[in-house]
Amino acid sequence: MKRDEILDILIENAGNTVSGGFMANRLGISRNSVWKNINALKKDGYIIESLNNRGYVLSDKVSYLSKKVIEKNLDTSFIGRNLEVTDSVDSTNTRLKNIPDSERQDGMVLVSDMQTGGRGRLGRSFVSPMFSGCYLSVMLRPRLPVSELNLITVIAAVAAVKAVKEVSGTDCSIKWVNDIMKDDRKIAGILTEGLMSVETGHVDWVVMGIGINTKRYEKLPEELKDIVGYLGDFADFTVDRNRLIAAFLNEFEHLYSHMNRDELYSFYRNNMLYMGEKIRFTDGGSERNGILKDLEKDFSLIIRDDSGKERKYSSGEISIRG
Ligand code: BTN
Repeated sequence: MKRDEILDILIENAGNTVSGGFMANRLGISRNSVWKNINALKKDGYIIESLNNRGYVLSDKVSYLSKKVIEKNLDTSFIGRNLEVTDSVDSTNTRLKNIPDSERQDGMVLVSDMQTGGRGRLGRSFVSPMFSGCYLSVMLRPRLPVSELNLITVIAAVAAVKAVKEVSGTDCSIKWVNDIMKDDRKIAGILTEGLMSVETGHVDWVVMGIGINTKRYEKLPEELKDIVGYLGDFADFTVDRNRLIAAFLNEFEHLYSHMNRDELYSFYRNNMLYMGEKIRFTDGGSERNGILKDLEKDFSLIIRDDSGKERKYSSGEISIRG
């Protein structure tokens, strides 16, 4: 549809003037048809300014999602090559988990502009309002033993920190095991879910979902207002969600294909929060206080509790004490 092609050109040039003549030439249509399509886009809610005799500017106050622009910035061989970008779903993870087995293609990606039932770890929800973040899931068919499934979350965390730096200039940290933080605010969360094949002891498929908060338009629920953060709070420009999604998928594929465990380990450890600090730890039920001593090579934590006993934990949650 010409409307969508015009929208892609405007999104690619958000904040800049694009002349009607340029779009007419590129799409092989008349200027009048460009004008009609622009009016249709405005009716659909896109904020477009028409400048007399100069052209059209799509507001860059909102980063609009575009499959075309994501694809243009993709540098991958299989991740995101089967890409669906949609306006709204309950949860991108749930959608990919529930597709028929015959459609489970390695590397397929589902991105949604918003989620009505975004899910987090431990049965929590992940607030995912329209225009406010990158909410996406990747289908993977890894040849990994179940014991190494946590590597997928590790790779996603490292890819997210790298992509955020590249696109928004913001340095973030990793809060073991699956949170990306900036100044004590949660910027992103990762939820990895999978199915194990009992016969092989290997993973049959994995859905890795990530939500990266980019810009706040709505008030957050009271209980989240001191916890959740947005990249836009740390950058003086509108973070381009299309570029961020592409950068994340590029980084993810690179790390996933190489599986360099030593490199992953040093990046993760160097960018991890609370090393050597007093923390509170919970692994389902009981809460304990201790000191975060180290990260093991298998990405489990060594925690010394207040009685002086050191233990290794491969799942759970930590928070800073004090
Ligand atoms: C967490 O914070 O515990 C993990 C949050 C994961 C959120 C992402 S958003 C895309 C994907 N779909 C979901 O329902 N959840 C993940």
